[in-house]
Amino acid sequence: LPAKNLVQAAATSGLRVVSVRHSSQAPKVALLGAAGGIGQPLGLLLKQDPLVAHLALYDVVNTPGVAADLSHIDSNAKVTAHTGPKELFAAVENADVIVIPAGVPRKPGMTRDDLFNTNAGIVRDLAAVIAKASPKALIAIITNPVNSTVPIASEVLKKAGVYDPKRVFGVTTLDVVRSQAFVSELKGLDASKTVVPVVGGHAGITIIPLLSQTKPATKFTDDEIAKLTPRIQDAGTEVVNAKAGAGSATLSMALAGARFANALVRGIKGEKNVQCAYVASDAVKGVEYFSTPVELGPNGVEKILGVGKVSAYEQKLIDASVAELNKNIAKGVAFVKGN
Ligand code: NAD
Ligand code: LMR
Repeated sequence: LPAKNLVQAAATSGLRVVSVRHSSQAPKVALLGAAGGIGQPLGLLLKQDPLVAHLALYDVVNTPGVAADLSHIDSNAKVTAHTGPKELFAAVENADVIVIPAGVPRKPGMTRDDLFNTNAGIVRDLAAVIAKASPKALIAIITNPVNSTVPIASEVLKKAGVYDPKRVFGVTTLDVVRSQAFVSELKGLDASKTVVPVVGGHAGITIIPLLSQTKPATKFTDDEIAKLTPRIQDAGTEVVNAKAGAGSATLSMALAGARFANALVRGIKGEKNVQCAYVASDAVKGVEYFSTPVELGPNGVEKILGVGKVSAYEQKLIDASVAELNKNIAKGVAFVKGN
């Protein structure tokens, strides 16, 4: 029986339904940090996604207002509001996909790692509840520093005995979106048809656009590569500086987050598709988490596609990213193991 009919049948027969498992046909997406700068526009885009059946909004403040507002949109997704730690379990219970933009953003002069002290604890505590309430959900982490928050969530799930490396993702889609925007602008390409994979991680030198793999096939001069690569690596800082203390990228991130969540849902529904994401990976020797194109399917990561054929310049950047990533990963792991 469809979940709705089950609830109705139970209600008329006097039975109490404790929990209705969402099927992959009616996906539930939980958004943690839903009232924030990213959370609100991301909630808007998820509410408009025809594949989302239930959108559960969670934050520590202001969730009822955001939920009331979004619930007046005439799309099919049912919206529920969950506020504060006591309501977190219900927000994530039976979720198919959990998207996490909860946590503080950068101000000018800060690195993403400067957010660790505040955001590490937030992600750890959210992951602990997910481990109990929704251990099979696909978890998409936006909260910075992504290079460390993905290992943090993974260690919490390991501790709880429910870790599945195929189900935990660091969202690096914004790096791909930016690369595609900058490349299409520079080369006069149709942005909607331009594809640029980005590998590594999501901070500074660990962000590695593979311009040599641009589709449609595009030639870049050495000078163009030497200018585009740092522009993509520093694009987050460009926004932080332009916002001058009012936060970091929210609108482009909402688009990127919605695109990635939609890809996860399509995968769950059996529509395999390829996205770049920061996941537990053996793609590059000597580092445990790395972003590459991955094939998404019903169980999350179906296949790690690796970095593919790269230029000598890109290989140097990949090699140089490993030490930095390992530092970020070790910091995240130590945070959970020491607690
Ligand atoms: P924001 O301050 O506008 O919003 C954050 C929201 O998180 C707030 O509504 C806050 O109440 C909520 N929150 C705080 N603690 C929480 C908790 N324990 N549980 C649930 N919600 C909680 O910040 P923002 O601009 O939306 O950015 C959020 C995060 O996303 C930051 O860490 C930022 O660095 C990161 N970010 C990542 C990317 C990326 O590409 N991965 C891009 C942009 C921003
Ligand atoms: C981004 O890339 O825009 C985000 O990681 C936010 C930031 O701090 O730069």
